[in-house]
Order: sequence, then C-alpha cells, then structure tokens
Amino acid sequence: MKAKISGKTLELILGDITEQATDAIANAANSRLAGGGGVDGAIHRAAGPTLANECARIGGCPTGSAVATGAGNLKARYVFHAVGPIWRGGGQDEAKLLAGAYRKCLELAEEKSCKSIAFPSISTGVYAYPLEQAASVALGEVAEQLARSAGKLHRAVFVLFDGATLAAYETALRELARKRKDLQLD
Ligand code: APR
Repeated sequence: MKAKISGKTLELILGDITEQATDAIANAANSRLAGGGGVDGAIHRAAGPTLANECARIGGCPTGSAVATGAGNLKARYVFHAVGPIWRGGGQDEAKLLAGAYRKCLELAEEKSCKSIAFPSISTGVYAYPLEQAASVALGEVAEQLARSAGKLHRAVFVLFDGATLAAYETALRELARKRKDLQLD
C-alpha cells in the first residue's frame, strides 16, 4: 500500500528490512545498543561485525531516540539504531517515546541527506507494544515529519515482516488518510 503526502511517498510492504536499498534503515535496538534477537539480530548478522563495533563505541542511546552508524555489508548507507519503549501498560509515556524514536530517525535522515529510509515495526516484537496502537503512532509520526520536511527525504517505507503486522499498518494508514486531508492513498 502506498500514500502520498506533500509530494513524498509513504509505503507499506511485506519483507525483510536487511534487503532494502534505501539510504538508511532503522533498527529496533535496545538502549545499551548491545544487539539482540528479532530485527536487531538480523541487521547485525547481515551487516557484519563493524556494526557492533560502532555501537560499542557509541555506548548507548536513551529510549525514545536513535543514533546513526554505517551499515557494513548492507545495501543501505546508514543504520539508525532506534530505541522504542518496552510496553508497560500505556501509562509510562510509551506513545511519546515510540513517536520520539521515529522522529529522531527522520531527523538523522535529513541531517545525513538521505532520500529514502526504511523502518521496521519498532517495539511490537520483544517489547510487546500492542500492534494496532504502535501502527497508529508510527504512521502518524512519520506522516507528520514527511509533511514538514523541506529536505531531500522523499520516501519512507515500512518493511513489515508478517501478514498480521502489514494488515495492522494498512488499517492504521487508511484511518490516517481519513484524518489527514494532505495524505492521499494511491
Ligand atoms: N525485517 C523486518 N522486520 C523484522 C525482521 C526483519 N528482518 N525481523 C524481525 N522483524 C520484525 C518483528 O516481526 C516485529 O514485527 O520487527 C518487529 C520488531 O520486533 P523486535 O525485533 O522484537 O523489536 P522490539 O519489539 O522493538 O524489541 C527490541 O529486541 O532484539 C531485541 O535488541 C533488541 O532488546 C531489543 C528488543
């Protein structure tokens, strides 16, 4: 599914983020940048050891933010290690922190003159953020930042790993298109 917002593209696809040729890919990391399972493990395996070395040099990242490294053997130029919140029931600023993680990735993309960026569904795996709510926060924030962007960034793609996640993001994107007059579904 594809949408246009302020001349930029917001896209949802089923796939493996490690295979994306966007300028940057976002990782769902932890605050120690220590590597892990899920998408984090897949990105580190595909990128090779330079990624862990760079992460160790940086040392950590607060929840709700992101840091940039190179991308080793990946096709992308950068990996933005974004730290989403662990779901603790919704009363611990989870939505604000999740939006912050996406926002920081988009700021890094602008800073590094990226034209395109790929995102996984941050926090909805091991961190157990409810999928429908996470999809709505993620798409709302990315659409808002794309609408505001005056830089080079013209495409953001969510690379979703299974059908249920894709379906939740498609529902959230349709809902967002009903709310935002500047967002048109293709
Ligand atoms: N491409 C795209 N998405 C993927 C891939 C992949 N190759 N592999 C897994 N995913 C999906 C999962 O199916 C899930 O929908 O990424 C989403 C996020 O799940 P997690 O990787 O578990 O991320 P998160 O919930 O943010 O938990 C982060 O897990 O691996 C650790 O170090 C990481 O501690 C951190 C925590």
